[in-house]
Amino acid sequence: MKPYSYRIEGGKPLKGDVNISGSKNAVLGVLAASMMIDGECTLENVPDISDVHVMIDLCRLLGARIDVSTAPEGSLVLKIDPRSINTYKATGRAVSKIRASYYLLGALLGRCGKASLSMPGGCNFGQRPIDLHLKAFKAMGASGASPEDVVGGIITLTADPLRGAKVFFDIASVGATINVMLAATKAQGNTTIINAAKEPHIVDVANFLNAMGARIKGAGTDTIKIKGVPVLPGNFSYSIIPDQIEAGTYMIAAAVTGGDVTIHNMIPTHMEPLSTKMREMGYLIEEGDDTIRVARYENTKITGTNIKTSPYPGFPTDLQPQAVVLLCMSKGISKMHENVWQNRFQYIPELTKMGASINIFDRIALIEGIETFKGASVNATDLRAGAALVCAALAANGWTYINHAEKIDRGYENIVQKLNSLGASICRTEDENGFEQDMEA
Ligand code: UD1
Repeated sequence: MKPYSYRIEGGKPLKGDVNISGSKNAVLGVLAASMMIDGECTLENVPDISDVHVMIDLCRLLGARIDVSTAPEGSLVLKIDPRSINTYKATGRAVSKIRASYYLLGALLGRCGKASLSMPGGCNFGQRPIDLHLKAFKAMGASGASPEDVVGGIITLTADPLRGAKVFFDIASVGATINVMLAATKAQGNTTIINAAKEPHIVDVANFLNAMGARIKGAGTDTIKIKGVPVLPGNFSYSIIPDQIEAGTYMIAAAVTGGDVTIHNMIPTHMEPLSTKMREMGYLIEEGDDTIRVARYENTKITGTNIKTSPYPGFPTDLQPQAVVLLCMSKGISKMHENVWQNRFQYIPELTKMGASINIFDRIALIEGIETFKGASVNATDLRAGAALVCAALAANGWTYINHAEKIDRGYENIVQKLNSLGASICRTEDENGFEQDMEA
């Protein structure tokens, strides 16, 4: 895909209402899960984002039938029939575009008893091993799951057969938890996952699997129990939960522009780690049943705070870059401790170009509050880093060009239209280095 940029004129407070789309991370797991159905299903509230299109392509390459249509409000509706799947191999180039392609291991093991996958891609923030996934598959009776079995970057697992097992994770991994739920759904006997991850999208994937005919209990707690079943009849409709990270990004965008925005179609309890920090900083956070309003009290100083990312219900690492922008726009010194990923501060030099004052000590960023950002030409180093640069650019004085904005579109449905409807001035330009060229012109 040809790279493109976002051009943003900052300094305009965001005002009004915005709707949150379906969860990226939930739908990627759900799409993989749907490959095991012995029938059809309809998925609603699917976000129209590039990662979803990559996953649809991967499923079609396996032979699955997926009809895509658009609902009136812009989300996708997918009619899925995987009964035409004719291969257990997901080894095309597209696999390396997204991290979540690894869910096809669990799903294909469940459906075909065999699965071949090229090692998955995704955002680059340090080592992203899949050892926990492979150890669990091995414990469940899959052969080929040792590191030395990877040949030419491809791993091939064979269920001999797949049996339920007790699986313990040293680290509460989102991906490994979902992958084991997928495989265990069709394994013989019972599986227990101990120290499971508890993120909202894990609950959504488990709910979807149960709607397919699976027997899963405990998703959302640290112990998940799965009774394997031989057949998954399907023939149902399912609506994906709202995206926690998109909602948090709009909360932060509203806050740093001094705006007043009500965010709709979201789940306020998923936002508690962020809402609590924002209240502590001095923002007005008003919760409804499925809305949150973010604004500033008059004449209240916004003060800095300390944040540490950790698995749910802790502060989400996927909101870390956006939250650093929030901390930049507060009084005093704040601390951000990245406790999930090894190397997730790669975007900070880009924020520094916009006037941020941040020092990094290993996994801790010390942030000194500034009055505001200034426009610059910057690069989106990954999806959420790009979202953070959008937040900074919306608050900044002057124009910002965010290059490689296609990375942002991996996870944000209609971000340009949504922000413009709130009063922002943002457009997409094919011109990668538009800033320098405009300055010269
Ligand atoms: C998912 C999300 C990603 C988010 C992350 C943490 C998707 C598609 N991606 O990624 O956006 O940042 O959760 O909330 O849903 N680990 C191992 N071995 C493994 C697996 C993980 O050591 O086999 C470690 C990782 O290096 C990391 C930690 O566990 O330090 C968490 O990773 P994990 O929860 O698995 O992240 P992903 O599922 O890849």
